[in-house]
Amino acid sequence: MAASAPARLERIAFRTSRLLDFVGRRELTAQIGHAPESWPLVIVKELVDNALDACEEAEIAPEIEVRVNTDTGEISVADNGPGIRPETVADILDFGVRVSSREAYVSPTRGAQGNALKTIIAMPFALDSGKGETIIESRGIEHRIVFAADQVRQEPKIEHLTAASQIVRNGTCVTVRWPDSASAMLAGAGKRFLQMVSEYIFLNPHLTLRYYWNNRLTQVPASEPRWQKWRACDLTSAHWYDAPRLARYAAALVSHDQDHARERTVREFLGEFRGLSGSGKQKHVIEAAGMARLPLAALFEDGAADAERVAALLRAMCQHSRPVKPKDLGVIGSDHWRKLCAGVGGRDNTFRYRRIAEEDENGIPYVVEAAFVARPHHAARAEAESPSGNKRRGHACRTNGITIPCVIPRMAVQRDFWEA
Ligand SMILES: Nc1ncnc2c1ncn2[C@@H]1O[C@H](COP(=O)(O)OP(=O)(O)OP(=O)(O)O)[C@@H](O)[C@H]1O
Ligand SMILES: [Mg+2]
Repeated sequence: MAASAPARLERIAFRTSRLLDFVGRRELTAQIGHAPESWPLVIVKELVDNALDACEEAEIAPEIEVRVNTDTGEISVADNGPGIRPETVADILDFGVRVSSREAYVSPTRGAQGNALKTIIAMPFALDSGKGETIIESRGIEHRIVFAADQVRQEPKIEHLTAASQIVRNGTCVTVRWPDSASAMLAGAGKRFLQMVSEYIFLNPHLTLRYYWNNRLTQVPASEPRWQKWRACDLTSAHWYDAPRLARYAAALVSHDQDHARERTVREFLGEFRGLSGSGKQKHVIEAAGMARLPLAALFEDGAADAERVAALLRAMCQHSRPVKPKDLGVIGSDHWRKLCAGVGGRDNTFRYRRIAEEDENGIPYVVEAAFVARPHHAARAEAESPSGNKRRGHACRTNGITIPCVIPRMAVQRDFWEA
């Protein structure tokens, strides 16, 4: 009898939804770039960033309240901004698209990925595959969002219930329900939470912040509520774009216009750029680029950007507008830091503040500010405790002084920077 051929497995190239990226702990860790132990901090950071962005965009001095309660497992951030729109909440729950009012623009503002709220909503479920719940309250509506997964199709299954909000009329309040099973992780984030939240105060003179860790309240009033920096609502600058980024911005507008059955001209597009909002300037630019009366969609053909046209337009835009000066980005200044340093026991005569406001080799403006103060009480104590007196002195001063901000480019910490 002839031996039968060994059984073969016919493999199928299965299709799985890309939305799976939000469902599991491993996948979400890859999306977020941080391990679950840091997720409580990621939640607070992303929500406070959003709150600041929304207030700054609406020209409102931000008042933000952060609450973490390890007993109830609630993490919430509330702001006094214009409130997140119900349509935006609905878009955020569509895990097949990114939603961002910043991604297409080039400007020195936070938030560009249009991903943060999606990952936050997915976190509780990834930690404990029961059901994850997040509540967004805004504009008189409470959005209760329950995140689960369809185990067969391997994609998010989201329940979105709305009701009248009893509490929130102004601004936005986002509450994440951290699962009980991961409560040790939340409790373990306490020290880093307090440090991170206080760093917001150093970098935002216009911010009034209240934060609770388990009902223990810390309040810090704004040192300068009218402080201004570059805001998301400021006109963007042609000098910050290269041709692909300009094409991306134009494409996002064309696609948005198509969805809303409208069309805009190249000239209207120019109105979104600093120095090009006047009609005289716009006329010069469209003539120089040979695009008079053309719709913005004329920058594209068969779904691809016309590279020459985009480059010609960008050249003309840069020729007819001035680059942004570094100081227009906003400067925190020494007064704010001096006040805060005094508040943490810094000795005023050791306070140092330095600033660099320049442009890099591509003409992109930047500002670096740094401050230092020594806290003599701590330095003296560290030295006294040190068995090798002098040798430890430098170290003691360094670790017990405060240097702000935490991330300073190497050039900024060179000795001549402080001595200049
Ligand atoms: N507190 C808020 N008030 C008003 N609008 C908000 C608030 N939080 C979020 N939004 C809106 O929801 C959008 C999505 O927020 P999300 O944090 O997911 O993305 P992003 O901030 O644009 O980018 P990133 O992923 O880099 O944070 C924002 O672009 C903004 O339009
Ligand atoms: Mg964000």
